[in-house]
Amino acid sequence: MSQGTLIGIDQLVLGTTTSCDLLDLNGDVAIPTGTAITSELLSRIKRANIIGLIAGRSDFVSSHVFPNRPSLEVISSRISEMQWRSGIARSISRETEKFGRDVLARTFSDLPGNKLPDIQTLELVVEKVLHDIELMRTPPLPVQGSSYHVFLDSLIDDSIDMAALMGWHLRMMDAPEDVIHGACLGALLHDTGMFLIPEFILEKPDSLKRAEIREIHKHPYLGSRALSPLNDRIPKIARDIILMHHECEDGNGYPLKRSGDEIPQYVHLSHIIDDYTALVSPRPHRTAVTPHRAIKCLVRDSGRSYNREVLKGFVNRTGMYPQGSAVILSSNEVGVVIGAGNGGLFTPEVDVYFSRHHHFSLTPQRIDLGKDRFRYIQRVMR
Ligand SMILES: [Fe+2]
Ligand SMILES: [Fe+2]
Repeated sequence: MSQGTLIGIDQLVLGTTTSCDLLDLNGDVAIPTGTAITSELLSRIKRANIIGLIAGRSDFVSSHVFPNRPSLEVISSRISEMQWRSGIARSISRETEKFGRDVLARTFSDLPGNKLPDIQTLELVVEKVLHDIELMRTPPLPVQGSSYHVFLDSLIDDSIDMAALMGWHLRMMDAPEDVIHGACLGALLHDTGMFLIPEFILEKPDSLKRAEIREIHKHPYLGSRALSPLNDRIPKIARDIILMHHECEDGNGYPLKRSGDEIPQYVHLSHIIDDYTALVSPRPHRTAVTPHRAIKCLVRDSGRSYNREVLKGFVNRTGMYPQGSAVILSSNEVGVVIGAGNGGLFTPEVDVYFSRHHHFSLTPQRIDLGKDRFRYIQRVMR
């Protein structure tokens, strides 16, 4: 048995933090250093029938919590920096991102002058995106990270993100390659019609009038009409996505007001991915929503905007805490979600960066929350 002081559970004082590891009677760490003693933790311990723990020090409970803890902004920026450096955060390559942006900017700026998109070059973007996501086990993260001053710029990046996510999800669903290619092309071009709407409406800082919203709702139709001379070169799946990506399960979408089975399955998926992408991306008037919160928003609208089954599949493949989410654990440690653990969507694998000395560590400790008896996700950071 390990050396140390045997303590009773009643000695764990609510609202304090452990100042050393508390071991179970087998000598395994049951409650790590820095864990906040919460009522939830105490009831978990009771449920686990633990009557005593071994503390390495007699003054095992400290009443102050992380005196040197940096601000959440500092933690957030350090984590995203480390994610990129360590290769945990996976997205399409910078090269594909730049190429896609250039091609789409050219495509959309030529449209009002009636110059048709160069499908061959767009296909090249599709190829590059699909190549980049080939070996990813978790969905690619959005390419954008900075804020946008111009709404239309965010739409270009959204289209690239949507293509990457469409490709990734359809691959996971074992869709045939031609379907994947067509859906990616559809994602790149889905908001073509937005670039035909007067810019003063799109870039308006205040809320839109009804007539202006009606104008915006025309964009799926405007896009389809503008691209119709290329109908024999754009696969049907792409054309469906361009025309119907705002149709809803309950028939309250636009422009056709189709519902349920009248909307093809992959179009249902495109609606989900389009909204998810928009939520996790910053806009000129708001910051990005965390992937976790975005998924919660989608789930809230299940059965109304989104087809239940298709959304269920999307959430199952993404996870409730998608890869890259920065989370604060019940132990007050800060970590980054790596992917679904053995326990499923609510208990993912997390790389913990916050060392027990309250400093960041560049070599994170990987924990599978499905196997951890006491740590759980307390909240997700913005
Ligand atoms: Fe749209
Ligand atoms: Fe969109």
